[in-house]
Amino acid sequence: MREITLNTSGKTSRILVGETFRNISTYLPDKPLVIITDENVAAHYADSFPEGLIISVKAGESSKTLNSASEIYEKLIRNEIDRQSFILGIGGGIVTDLAGYIASTYLRGLSFGFVSTTLLGQVDASIGGKNGVNYEGYKNMVGIIRQPDFVICDPEMLNTLEPSEFRMGFAEVIKYGAILDQDFFEFLERNHEQALAHDPGIMEEIVGVSARAKSEIVSNDENESGERKKLNFGHTFAHAYEKLSGLPHGEAVGIGMVMAARLSQKMGLITEAEVKRLRDLILLYGLPVTYKGLCTEVFEVMKNDKKRGGDSISLILLESIGKAIIREVTLSELKNWIDDLC
Ligand SMILES: NC(=O)c1ccc[n+]([C@@H]2O[C@H](COP(=O)([O-])OP(=O)(O)OC[C@H]3O[C@@H](n4cnc5c(N)ncnc54)[C@H](O)[C@@H]3O)[C@@H](O)[C@H]2O)c1
Ligand SMILES: [Zn+2]
Repeated sequence: MREITLNTSGKTSRILVGETFRNISTYLPDKPLVIITDENVAAHYADSFPEGLIISVKAGESSKTLNSASEIYEKLIRNEIDRQSFILGIGGGIVTDLAGYIASTYLRGLSFGFVSTTLLGQVDASIGGKNGVNYEGYKNMVGIIRQPDFVICDPEMLNTLEPSEFRMGFAEVIKYGAILDQDFFEFLERNHEQALAHDPGIMEEIVGVSARAKSEIVSNDENESGERKKLNFGHTFAHAYEKLSGLPHGEAVGIGMVMAARLSQKMGLITEAEVKRLRDLILLYGLPVTYKGLCTEVFEVMKNDKKRGGDSISLILLESIGKAIIREVTLSELKNWIDDLC
């Protein structure tokens, strides 16, 4: 087990990687407990849930809305949940985003913690305090930054994930290697078979290094005014692919990272061999690296996403494997580069 501390202005948050879910009661305050989870997670783990009011939502993005938040507020009121209670989100990114949002807004905020149960959740979504819901089809439009007291990341819980959900979490893992840590990138290259076979030691290392990387970035830049933007590596392109083709996030990030790396090469920052190395690693983890038929369209979506805030865009590029930089480019520069790449 390893403990990571996330320090932000108002708060110290504990991230426990490799702790077993069965020890959850050790971390809970002596307060009435409300558990927010989803139907799939409950089906696997409800037997081991601690004592408390259980609110289970339908699995999927349709539960990350103001409507389901308002149904939950209603249940909390009906059960006379007050400020002395503690909210525990047990689930993937959808559940922790929603539970964190409820805990941050109901009665102007209760204390809360997470048991993060997907790979994407353990290395990304549950860490950093961004809580929120979608609005009218726009992702994460309504929300608040507020840190949980703790996040438990038990890699053993990942064994019950659908294989495709498990694989997609590796897109974010590879991202940390690419933008921050060449040694970790090499570790991922060497250990892909063990990782994909859920080797416990390898998975604890992977989740531990990733969770620490995200925590350090958030500790330095909670409100995303600088360094935290690097976490968007591959994501500006990925969001366009998700919109255009309905590709799931992890797959779109795989393709987006390759696109960002190719752009970095085009701008003279990295070599063709480095682009290939990133591409090969993404392929080793069973994720796609190209999407036929969509190239120039990507620019149009990126441009439309940029309705707010001027005619330039922050691109996250690679200076080498393990080092990202932030470059402001104008939309017309970006269009030329994308046309060239296509
Ligand atoms: N807050 C942030 O900083 C942040 C960062 C990245 C992503 N996100 C958000 O995270 C969400 C995606 O999260 P996700 O990929 O974890 O999706 P998810 O929460 O939908 O989980 C994926 C699927 O796996 C099931 N599941 C979860 N844990 C399981 C387990 N241990 N065993 C079996 N099944 C399990 C879920 O029921 C669901 O069907 C998106 O809404 C995204 O916006 C937030
Ligand atoms: Zn992502």
